[in-house]
Amino acid sequence: MLGPVAVPRAPSTADERTLADLQLANRVMHETTRLHPAGAIAPREAAVDLTLGGYRISKGTLILWSAHLSGRDPVAWTDPLVFDPDRFVDPDPEQRALSDVAWVPFGRGARNCIGFALAEMGLTLIVARLAQRLDVELVTTEKPRPVGMVVNRPWGGAPVCRHSLSASARRQHPLSDQPHRPARSHADRLRVVTWVDGGAMVRQ
Ligand code: HEM
Repeated sequence: MLGPVAVPRAPSTADERTLADLQLANRVMHETTRLHPAGAIAPREAAVDLTLGGYRISKGTLILWSAHLSGRDPVAWTDPLVFDPDRFVDPDPEQRALSDVAWVPFGRGARNCIGFALAEMGLTLIVARLAQRLDVELVTTEKPRPVGMVVNRPWGGAPVCRHSLSASARRQHPLSDQPHRPARSHADRLRVVTWVDGGAMVRQ
């Protein structure tokens, strides 16, 4: 991967530039939502008779579109099932145009997500914040199966081991303004994060 997830800066200087600095975190957010959009499918109703992709569709027909399928479309993405945040670094014009059309975790068109910018900002900050404070690794090599037709989440969760980062590593990051909790024992530093119904519960 290119560049840090969070750009090191003095702890007290996080400001409006911080988000622009978090380019890798932003790409991780893009790549994660490409492969695992929260909404797998969404409906539209044809307002007029139309032909779409060679199909004749009558006015009033319910159409389901899928951010999940679009994010994995081999026509739009090279190696679509590979998690590669750097695919968004300087794409050629053709790839950029395809990605613009096929990356739709927040929908597209007149009824797209009104909270898109807020959500994108929040997700990017969450990625950066977790990367600053946690070093996690999967405890199993099995990929969690997705569950849910409309809202996507991992079946049975995704158990990971959490290693605490050192205080000095955390202090290097602009958002590390929380007081450092000193590490206790090794067992304390390595905790299992249990995912409950798609959400993470970290035992403290
Ligand atoms: C990770 C966070 C979020 C995701 C993945 C998400 C995703 C979506 C999706 C897929 C749609 C349907 C778009 C379409 O049909 O084209 C939608 C609609 C909508 N979202 Fe979000 N959203 C998120 C956060 C938010 C936030 C933070 C707000 C408000 C502050 C918000 C407000 C709305 C509203 C009002 C609509 C309906 C828009 C309309 O029908 O005109 N969303 N969102």
